[in-house]
Amino acid sequence: MPATATATARRNRARPAKATTRPQEAAAARDGCTELSAWTSVRQERWEGELPVQGRLPDWLSGTYLRSGPGLWDADGGGGAFHYLFDGYATLVRVSFRQGRATGAHRLIESDAYVSAVESGGPVLLEFSQCPKPGNMLDRVSNAVGILSGAALTDNPNAGVLPLGDGRVLCLTESTKSSVLVDPETLATVGKFRYADGLGGMMMMIQSGHPIVTESELLKVLPDLARPGHLVVRMAAGSDKREVIGRVDCRGGPTPGWMHSFAVTENYVVVPEMPLRYSASRLLKGEPAPYYAFEWLPASGSYMHVMCRSTGKTVASVEVPPFMAIHYINAYEERGEDDGPAAAVIVDCCEHYGDPAIIETLALHRLRSFRDQDVLPDARYHTMYMHMVVALWQPMHQLLLSSRVTVS
Ligand SMILES: [Fe+2]
Repeated sequence: MPATATATARRNRARPAKATTRPQEAAAARDGCTELSAWTSVRQERWEGELPVQGRLPDWLSGTYLRSGPGLWDADGGGGAFHYLFDGYATLVRVSFRQGRATGAHRLIESDAYVSAVESGGPVLLEFSQCPKPGNMLDRVSNAVGILSGAALTDNPNAGVLPLGDGRVLCLTESTKSSVLVDPETLATVGKFRYADGLGGMMMMIQSGHPIVTESELLKVLPDLARPGHLVVRMAAGSDKREVIGRVDCRGGPTPGWMHSFAVTENYVVVPEMPLRYSASRLLKGEPAPYYAFEWLPASGSYMHVMCRSTGKTVASVEVPPFMAIHYINAYEERGEDDGPAAAVIVDCCEHYGDPAIIETLALHRLRSFRDQDVLPDARYHTMYMHMVVALWQPMHQLLLSSRVTVS
């Protein structure tokens, strides 16, 4: 066990679980939030207990559900150090169903970002909405190097949790150094997960926040900020080594679009290139960007790229209207007559009317101002699903059959 994991395990052993919900209620009142508000810091380090059930759970329902997400927005318990949803320190949540009963548990993940914030009384590493403090020329150079190398970025794994196929469970966010192994039973932080490959480094410090996990491998996308494009990589179940499937060059610029998630079908990887792009001034000068780490550049173009999973070749690249999509919902192939090769790839995503305003909506003061209202009414009631239909008939791979947008 590495030294970091040993220290983490020691800290975990020293802190017994506490089973009470009262601190949550007190914290909710202090934060001006209603009880059980999703935007209230969960200040308990650990909790586990039986969950109340309304109605009756079927006896056959058996299993465990794990989620990771932002749960604590001020590590010192003082006064709201963070103001943005995605800045929150990662909390791992478990809900288990067995023999008609439900038990729940949650536990803060002891990332370097969280531990250093507790020890220092405030954040040390840069979270989603934060920008380096302005300083002299030397500071600015140091800030730029820290961002571009990833050293100054957070390892706060609040975007997701996934199985590695060999019993290990990984939590991660969008910096490549963010991967943290956790124990799915105790929810304890086991230690850092380190890739056994040479990928990454300067200008390659970002990854998609939501990899796609199949029975045999996980797939993820690494934006290339130096030479605008995306590497699509796979990691076999049980392995620690990523392998490059292929590369998609951006058609717009000056940087890749934000890559939070992407879509995969049986034979293809769909790589979106939306016009909310990583900010060059933020990266190089450490200056605030209009949308935190991003800028909205609709004139740079919007594209959907389709890569063959077996060859790594980009078989279609389609220009589409400007779109703002953080999460992809589903993707599948449509086959022609006689169940032959794929004739089309269809991707559904939750789209926000080509408007990056959702980035501002997720600021905590705005989320906390909603009382008994839907925070994202457009997303719930007017969700836009973009269906990209791309012809893949040999040999005319580049032919666009149609592109349609429907609203449901
Ligand atoms: Fe997400």
